[in-house]
Amino acid sequence: MTGSGSVPVPDVFDPRQYGQGIPHDHYRHLRDHHPVAWQEEPEVLGWPAGPGFWAVTRHEDVVRVLKDSSTYSSYLGATQIRDPDPADLPFIRRMMLNQDPPHHRRLRVLVSRAFTPKRIDRFGTGVRERARSLLTRAVTEARSGDGTCDLVTQVTDDYALLNLTDLLGVPDTDRALLLHWTRRVIGYQDPDEAGTPRLGPDGKPVNPRSPSALRDMFDYAHALAAHKRRHPADDVMTSLATDPELTAPELEMFFFLLVIAGNDTVRSAAPGGLHLLVENPEAYGRLRNGEVGSATAVDELLRRHPPVLTFRRTAREDTVLAGTRIRTGDKVVVFHASANHDERVFPDPFTLDLTRTPNPHVSFGDGPHVCLGAHFARLQLRALYEETCRRLPPSLESAGSPGRLVSNFINGLKSLPVRVGGC
Ligand code: HEM
Repeated sequence: MTGSGSVPVPDVFDPRQYGQGIPHDHYRHLRDHHPVAWQEEPEVLGWPAGPGFWAVTRHEDVVRVLKDSSTYSSYLGATQIRDPDPADLPFIRRMMLNQDPPHHRRLRVLVSRAFTPKRIDRFGTGVRERARSLLTRAVTEARSGDGTCDLVTQVTDDYALLNLTDLLGVPDTDRALLLHWTRRVIGYQDPDEAGTPRLGPDGKPVNPRSPSALRDMFDYAHALAAHKRRHPADDVMTSLATDPELTAPELEMFFFLLVIAGNDTVRSAAPGGLHLLVENPEAYGRLRNGEVGSATAVDELLRRHPPVLTFRRTAREDTVLAGTRIRTGDKVVVFHASANHDERVFPDPFTLDLTRTPNPHVSFGDGPHVCLGAHFARLQLRALYEETCRRLPPSLESAGSPGRLVSNFINGLKSLPVRVGGC
């Protein structure tokens, strides 16, 4: 804890604490006493120290920051807590995630054309079939073994990745590459995921989002786009590769954004939701017997387990947020899991109420950058939970603590052992 005065400010930055669980006590303390709280950014796990940032934890303030892109910029310092290398900034800003209106609007409109609900819905049958077969295989293997399975390694990791590769139109033989890339970019704070960090000439770890670290992914994006122009299909890469308004650098950046944004988020949401169902047998029972609908259930599970923990903005001008003065150039970081449990907005925020309506969670963000893949994500999660109710036993039993990702960005689960032998 740091801070002057009588009420100390707990640390919500250190990625290592997220390996133990979401620091809800710290979040609540910040919401109640320091809704906009200064956080130190010391060196952690070999990654260099930063200048510190403001942590925004109340729902109302999180929504304000996300909606007000003229004050809180995605462009100035991009969207990750860690400052990018200034030399990499021009490159990183080519991604629409790291742009502000009005420029952002152009790419958003272009790319939305590839993401129409009609196209997404066409993947529904394949997605459901995949949920069915992965769950069935996990149960069969558990029965022929010790009655347990790991829902992350046996079901949800493959589920998220294969659904995304179908949507993009990535051939089966290249799927492992995508998993490797997302592990490198998202899991970089977790030694289990990323391995030993690659060091640059200065002996410091190379930022996995820098151009040099991404070259292989971009080369692949170009090769895939060329293939799609020769062999068009009903997938997102064909739509992007044949769009005359999208430039080659825009296409490669968009491929990168989709591979990261579309995989690790669902890869977190799916086991996160299943874990909540294991822990809340009554809610699971009501979902199974059809008392509650899967659409509201998906959103409540996303509220309680938001896949994204933080996004960063940079103040374009001096401003005041919840009574705190913020100076031009300060980093401002919103905390999604805190906003989703703000008792000012959600009655009994720690109760899993699968019928909760309205449910204004911010798991998909808000404002101009609100998630473009939300429809596809909800479609996948609905199919997974519905098939879980059909294929897994009526009472789910935990077979050990889930393994959690060391990251202050993605709320990831690395394992979810469950006893399914009795079904
Ligand atoms: C449960 C799953 C998902 C969650 C929780 C999620 C969350 C988010 C959030 C919070 C943002 C806003 C970023 C910001 O404020 O700067 C975002 C943006 C985005 N997401 Fe998702 N996402 C999910 C799944 C997906 C999927 C499946 C795709 C694509 C296949 C996708 C594509 C995108 C894109 C392209 C953006 C950038 C939009 C822009 O900059 O205008 N997401 N997502």
